[in-house]
Amino acid sequence: MSFETILVEQKGAVTLITLNRPKALNALNSQVCAELVAAFAAFEADETQGCAVLTGSGEKAFAAGADIKEMADKPAADFFLQDFFADWQAKLVKTTRKPWIAAVNGFALGGGCELAMMADFILAADTAKFGQPEIKLGVAPGMGGSQRLTRAVGKAKAMEMCLTGRMMGAVEAESAGLVARIVPLADLLDDALKTAQTIAEMPRMAAIANKEMVNAAFETTLDQGLLHERRLFQILTASADKAEGMAAFVEKRAAQWQGR
Ligand code: CAA
Repeated sequence: MSFETILVEQKGAVTLITLNRPKALNALNSQVCAELVAAFAAFEADETQGCAVLTGSGEKAFAAGADIKEMADKPAADFFLQDFFADWQAKLVKTTRKPWIAAVNGFALGGGCELAMMADFILAADTAKFGQPEIKLGVAPGMGGSQRLTRAVGKAKAMEMCLTGRMMGAVEAESAGLVARIVPLADLLDDALKTAQTIAEMPRMAAIANKEMVNAAFETTLDQGLLHERRLFQILTASADKAEGMAAFVEKRAAQWQGR
């Protein structure tokens, strides 16, 4: 599969996807959207791959948002009829069951921040800057920013950021709960790939179940989430990897995972 706006590489069991429009600060145009959907579908379908990392090329930006130049003259009917950006929610979030990490290497603004927040977690370079500045363009977030940012950092910070367009630096983002960890920019990719490798080496069914149950916490009531967790736990007890993991612990040896 060949792409023009993204780079896709396999590093062992990890798929590295790099947004590759550095001159436009990796702005997300329709071609990027379509190519990302195809790259994530290929990652999901490839049994050799256990985790993905999404990052931006260049040192300045993960992605500075949806492509303003592409959107500037687009009629409202096109946005509505094409259900602009619905594909990402469907394909990157809903049907990508395997875990993926956003390695945010600079600006993550507007759609860039929203794309990062679709990841299972964010690792941020110390230079990362997050924001939803759409209000300054006369619009508002359109790919989940008002919902995911609010769930991640709470109403006060999300509302202030959406209403003023101010950016949040890496330290504030970590203390607010938006990012899992801060890493020096020079080490970000290595760290993200190592973290992804650790996840890719975990028993596959358990990785998918862990992701699913944590995500359920955002979408259901506590009672439903707890039930969902218990049922997934119970299903995992029937897996070959449960038998192997527990036997390996008792026998004091490394487990040999089958992914089933
Ligand atoms: N779309 C298209 N092009 C963009 C872009 C974007 N979102 N962001 C940056 N670029 C382009 C610039 O036009 C510029 O291109 P030229 O060299 O051809 O002029 C190039 O990238 C470099 O950008 P700057 O010269 O502006 O770089 P800077 O260092 O001075 O500023 C910045 C960096 C603060 C990130 C600034 O580029 C900026 O404010 N970008 C726009 C951020 C934004 O508003 N994002 C939200 C977009 S709307 C959205 O995402 C909608 C949604 O939720 C669905």
